[in-house]
Amino acid sequence: MYADVARDVISRCRSLATYSDEPGFTTRTFLSDSMCQVHADLSAWMARVGMSVRLDAVGNLRGFYAGASADAPRLLVGSHLDTVPHAGAFDGVLGVVMGVALIETLHGRRLPFGIEILGFSEEEGVRFGVPFIGSRAVVLDVDEALLAVQDARGITIGQAIRDFGLDPAHIMDARAEANGLGYFEFHIEQGPVLDTLHRPLAVVDRIVGRSCADAIFNGSPGHAGTTPMDGRRDALAGAAEWIGGVEEYARCTPGLVATTGQVDVAPGAANVIPGRCRVSVDVRHAGDDARTAAIDRLRSLAHEIAARRGLRIDWWPRFDHPATTMSRSLVEMLARAVERAGAPGMIMSSGAGHDAMILAAHMPATMLFIRTPGGVSHHPDESVTEGDVAIALAAGMNFLDELAGAVDG
Ligand code: GLV
Ligand code: MN
Ligand code: MN
Repeated sequence: MYADVARDVISRCRSLATYSDEPGFTTRTFLSDSMCQVHADLSAWMARVGMSVRLDAVGNLRGFYAGASADAPRLLVGSHLDTVPHAGAFDGVLGVVMGVALIETLHGRRLPFGIEILGFSEEEGVRFGVPFIGSRAVVLDVDEALLAVQDARGITIGQAIRDFGLDPAHIMDARAEANGLGYFEFHIEQGPVLDTLHRPLAVVDRIVGRSCADAIFNGSPGHAGTTPMDGRRDALAGAAEWIGGVEEYARCTPGLVATTGQVDVAPGAANVIPGRCRVSVDVRHAGDDARTAAIDRLRSLAHEIAARRGLRIDWWPRFDHPATTMSRSLVEMLARAVERAGAPGMIMSSGAGHDAMILAAHMPATMLFIRTPGGVSHHPDESVTEGDVAIALAAGMNFLDELAGAVDG
């Protein structure tokens, strides 16, 4: 029944993936020109299916489909429109496109609640090293300190917002309306669980906690040809030892994953001893105590290595979020919706972070995972199948219908 819609959803995601900051790849960072193109494309479609469209003060694209009455409560349906560098076509965008496709499928039918589709402007944390700027604005968790964070070119978040033609002073406009019923997000699983179990969908009941920080190793730059090995204070060599230690610690700690995904070296020449090296670290664990113990231990390890090598550490925490539980009643409602769509009502936790973890602290929230062939994500080969998207759309419509019954009843 949803096969044609699913085909259209996939083709829209592939077409939106061509809007990129980098030719030949899909790389779309916070408030870049390519994000502007995505907004124009999606806004036109949202308007065609009867939604009123606006950009809020942090550049979240928001389309509102009114409910049956003016005072109807509102369901939020969202995901993010930014990507990692060299991304696939589905992480984030799929959830926004499926939300608009569901509204198109209503063919003007009004529900006892309005539906607001949110295309979050920033979730990945690529440009500013801080994830979830879009969804944090919706729950009013954006303060002056966050607006002052700088990107690699020294542009602050506040300035980036102004450069995009928006005004950070209007941040209150981004907050969710008080009459929220809850938040729902479609997202690819991004891992191998569903593919391995031959299941198309799973309802998410929990999202693991995450801590991100930058460790900056400060040493002393010098001539690569004339400085004896004994007298060196090589920031990159210290950082490299620490990176190996991070991997070793995570390998030896059950359930922990730790990634050092970004390294900047200064001054960055083959014949200059590195004087400064910044390394990002991203630590995740289902248990909050294990995660905070890990980040504390990795910070101490950086200091121990630095002390032995005559280096100095600056440590910048970037993000800390506990493991988050989804709403039990929405999880159960969504699992029933999945079963009515003909798939097993499987429930699983998410190892990836999602905007739902930010919204869930403020309103009932749930997510629907869609199988990711081979578990491949954050990679250009990321994919979904038409069949799985079709079942997910059917489950999404069943969910809206059951929620409508609950609001009416
Ligand atoms: C989001 O993509 C994450 O890093 O979990
Ligand atoms: Mn991602
Ligand atoms: Mn994502």
